[in-house]
Amino acid sequence: MSDLAAPHILALTAYEPGKPEEELTRELGIDDVVKLASNENPYGPSPKSIEAVSGAALALHRYPDPRGYDLRQALAGHHSVPVEQLCLGNGSNELIDLICRVTASRGEHAVFGNPSFLCYRIAAVAQELDFTAVPLRNHLHWSVDDLLGAVTPKTKLLFISNPNNPTGSYIAKSELERLLRTLPDHVLAVVDEAYVEYADAEDFVPATELRDTRERLAILRTFSKAYGLAALRVGYVIGTPELIATLNRLRAPFNVGTAGQRAARAALADDAHLQTTIAATVRDRHKLTDALRAAGLRVAPSQANFVLVDVRRPGRAVYEALLHEGVIVRPMSAPLESSIRVTVGKPEENERFLSSLARVLRQSRV
Ligand SMILES: Cc1ncc(COP(=O)(O)O)c(C=O)c1O
Repeated sequence: MSDLAAPHILALTAYEPGKPEEELTRELGIDDVVKLASNENPYGPSPKSIEAVSGAALALHRYPDPRGYDLRQALAGHHSVPVEQLCLGNGSNELIDLICRVTASRGEHAVFGNPSFLCYRIAAVAQELDFTAVPLRNHLHWSVDDLLGAVTPKTKLLFISNPNNPTGSYIAKSELERLLRTLPDHVLAVVDEAYVEYADAEDFVPATELRDTRERLAILRTFSKAYGLAALRVGYVIGTPELIATLNRLRAPFNVGTAGQRAARAALADDAHLQTTIAATVRDRHKLTDALRAAGLRVAPSQANFVLVDVRRPGRAVYEALLHEGVIVRPMSAPLESSIRVTVGKPEENERFLSSLARVLRQSRV
């Protein structure tokens, strides 16, 4: 084994992001590509964010505001929290990593779900933490008892994605509240709400409404999904002033660019755009789910902007075949080898996916 890097890093498998459209065009010469692989908002951001990005072009020679003052003020108003309880990240992904680095040391322990967002595992491994990946029941449903059962005296962190990527499932209000109240005090609960805007179940509750349940609580949000600003990399965490001050010890000073800060602020101020695109996606999530079920496939009920489809054969083969149709979805790894994850796109994109999938599933080679 090479001695270039530490063994725990060499043992890591790199996160496999959704394939970019341009890459498929390069590889297969297909120009008309539909990407339903990274849970982006297909309608794009508020026009006000685009205007803000144009304005930011005049300040390109200046470093961004290192403390993100204006955006944090706007977020403080949005969530009714003091500004000292907010820290910006270069996407929420950076914050997952930063939280691991500042709160836990080698040999301490983290808990997260399986299947869930793979970056929790990567961040834990990078920090040389021991971890328990708690199997979701039927690969789908969170069990609060199973999560609590995995906690040890060495556990510093518990990550939950709510709604969960890649299943779209969620922890209902009473269970989330029980988890947050019962979890021992020494554990920082990190509730990753990347898809919270799409959740409409009656018993879903954002963790922002459960802030008084425990001291050690970090809530992650992002502008990459419903706000349509994935390219600009803006996320944030809501936590105690102590947690935020600790994160700031290690946070790179200019981690969120000027265009991102301004576009995110403009996005927050355009609730009408946000609500319109959420409504379209939630409507089409139901339509897509119904169409796939009508085709005889099992689809997990989703509270997010994607659906997990069991294609009852190797999902990676279906993914590869769909690439040749110019449709990019996401293949899943164990324990979801027979599933693909599909972002809810615009109606015409969903139609294209459905007809391509029908063709692919009819072919004997898959
Ligand atoms: C559950 C979850 N958390 C965090 C992220 C990271 O998002 P970003 O870094 O763009 O904010 C993603 C992206 O797919 C996600 O699915």
